[in-house]
Amino acid sequence: MRIIFYHPTDNAAVWIDGLRQRFPDADIRLWREDVDLPADYAVVWHPPRAMLAGRPGLKGVFALGAGVDALMDQVRLHPDMLPANVPLMRLEDTGMAQQMIEYTVAAVLRYYRRLDEYALQQSLREWRELALPARETFLVGIAGAGVLGGKTAMAVRAMGFPVRCWTRRAKVIPGVASFAGREGLDAFLNGVQVLVNLLPNTPQTTGILNAALFARLNRGAYIINIARGAHMVEDDLLAALAQGQIAAATLDVCRQEPPPRDHPFWTAPRITLTPHIAATTLPSQAMDSIADNIRRIETGQTPLGLVDRLRGY
Ligand code: NAP
Ligand code: GLV
Repeated sequence: MRIIFYHPTDNAAVWIDGLRQRFPDADIRLWREDVDLPADYAVVWHPPRAMLAGRPGLKGVFALGAGVDALMDQVRLHPDMLPANVPLMRLEDTGMAQQMIEYTVAAVLRYYRRLDEYALQQSLREWRELALPARETFLVGIAGAGVLGGKTAMAVRAMGFPVRCWTRRAKVIPGVASFAGREGLDAFLNGVQVLVNLLPNTPQTTGILNAALFARLNRGAYIINIARGAHMVEDDLLAALAQGQIAAATLDVCRQEPPPRDHPFWTAPRITLTPHIAATTLPSQAMDSIADNIRRIETGQTPLGLVDRLRGY
């Protein structure tokens, strides 16, 4: 078995060694344009076109993340990167759900417990209690309740907050109200105090966090975007913050990462930026999952995390 690997930034040795431990008899190599060897499987993150193009015999491509939007964008431009017969798999959870839960709970509690306002009071040497909003009115809406959003919804619900989710098809998650499809979007947004975005970036969802959507939320709502920067119409967010329609936003992702040094998000007082770390890929768990999937393919079983090319996620 021959496996080629490419990641633009990660330490390749960790992955190559880890895959060799899992498949001691396989030929596992870092892909380089000048060493373009035949392969059965490709393990990739943001691969160059030359790595995948012209390999109709690949038995599978494994993306090293949950979101495959960048690869799908490339494939739309260069279909030869992923012939229709080559399955594309993404990571399902592999330790990311727990990270998403932690990030979301931290941000929701920060807003619910008014910690930013206390920080401001401290800077003014002011010792004053602020009223807490009624918990049952602090409605958390989770857009995208798949592998990561579903578990995040349950964790926020377990803290006693009312939670609802929005998906393509209706969901059954205990204690979480389900809204589905474009026709369910307005009803989903109505009354939401904290909107958490965990949608995949697809042609249907790009730019979904825009002025029209913000206007449907409660006045003074909060936004937590932990999915993709392309979901956000950034000027609309700045305008909604200036108007008070949005009280504050926590953004783990931006349209350009990192944002240019003069980008207003760096200094906007009610925007919190983190460098796309809400849920990172954990190599050991990811490789266990990829190894399991390779064994599935080799034994004629359907792999897990298969991407539906038409849906784009
Ligand atoms: P997933 O399991 O595929 O879940 C996606 C969810 O979005 C599903 O519930 C799906 O609905 C819903 N959805 C998709 N298109 C929709 C549409 N047009 N309208 C309404 N709902 C729609 O994905 P996941 O594993 O949870 O990951 C979600 C995203 O998180 C990834 O795509 C990635 O962009 C992002 N992410 C970010 C980080 C980070 O560090 N910031 C880390 C990992 C992942 P159905 O259930 O009905 O199909
Ligand atoms: C990270 O953003 C991922 O999609 O896994």
